Amino acid sequence: MSEPRRDALYNGLTSFQPTLPSSAYWNAEEYQRDLDAIWYRGWVMVCRAADLAQPLDYRVVTVGTQEVLVLRDDRGDIRAFHNTCRHRGSQLCRESEGRLKARLLTCPYHAWSYSLRGDLVRVPSKSLPPGFDRADYPLYSVGVSVWRGFVFVNLAPSPQGSAASAFDEASADLGNWPLEDLATGHVYSKVMNCNWKIFWENFNECLHCPGVHKHLSELVPIYGRGLMARHDDPDWALHADNDEPRFSGGLRTGAQTWSRDGQPLAIRFPGLTDAEQAAGQTYAMNLPSMFIVGHVDYVRTVRLLPLGPERTQLVAEWLFPAETLAGRPDLDNIVSFGKAVLDEDAAICEINQKGLRARPHLAGVLMPEEYDLHRFHRWVRAAHAGYIERGR
Ligand code: FES
Ligand SMILES: [Fe+2]
Repeated sequence: MSEPRRDALYNGLTSFQPTLPSSAYWNAEEYQRDLDAIWYRGWVMVCRAADLAQPLDYRVVTVGTQEVLVLRDDRGDIRAFHNTCRHRGSQLCRESEGRLKARLLTCPYHAWSYSLRGDLVRVPSKSLPPGFDRADYPLYSVGVSVWRGFVFVNLAPSPQGSAASAFDEASADLGNWPLEDLATGHVYSKVMNCNWKIFWENFNECLHCPGVHKHLSELVPIYGRGLMARHDDPDWALHADNDEPRFSGGLRTGAQTWSRDGQPLAIRFPGLTDAEQAAGQTYAMNLPSMFIVGHVDYVRTVRLLPLGPERTQLVAEWLFPAETLAGRPDLDNIVSFGKAVLDEDAAICEINQKGLRARPHLAGVLMPEEYDLHRFHRWVRAAHAGYIERGR
């Protein structure tokens, strides 16, 4: 068998590729198209199943302009509905989270009541109009898919696939991390003044790492070279046998996890392979709403919601084995490191956003290292094209 051609393993772009048009990041109509073609059709992670631990627990999340009520019903199943009454469209739940006081959802306006499965069970009018059948007026249901402890919703009329099938093809499977059993140790939320796509573009390249992430670039030496992996370097073959982290990826010598000093907590995930431990960080991405990173001692998730053409909500969570949290460890070594990286990314995303309205800047151009960003653009373009082809 002949050896594979070494240049065939090179990851970088080998053709000229423009970015999306600048207006895709601020124009209101294009934002609406993102909502219609992507956010209202795909699986969107909204919380952990553990956030709805008990029957009657609920959360209200807003995806674009759509308020979604996610709850655990009296049988223990997680369900989602538009947070809207079928009578004259009032909002149903007014708080963003809590526990329902009864096994019925009662509209605050004229008290139509619904079961937690969404059936209309009570209409308090003295009489009903001819032809009115309560069975015709259930809550508007929203698709739910629970993947390994993460709750996703889907606003499409007939949701396709599942949260599992929506992971990016380059994602690691994270099967050796016990995701469904992890507990939340810390939550960090912030609003970024940028379009949601700017966040993902930044996530998909490390050209910015040497300039933007000083400490991360020390922890992950290959990032300090502006690269994400060995084969991002056109000259990778010259260093093919060099196992130093600056060429092979992984953490600097002596470091084991993403923390200020590189040291992990006492309890580490027992099921990881040597390669998963050596990798330092293992990513899975589910567009448009979330990514997960597995480390040797904890897992971090980041989820997004679009708030407007130039505003995006970010929620990061640090997840740990319950035994870890039971020992009440000081999480600051870990959390402050991750927060600093997120803050650096958010700040540079906002700076990127600010430049995009220059009238002559119709589009930018990608460098070879931005191959994953190009893949993201292809995904966005395909979603828009599919939306137009289907006649919306
Ligand atoms: S709008 Fe809900 S009962 Fe009237
Ligand atoms: Fe970054």
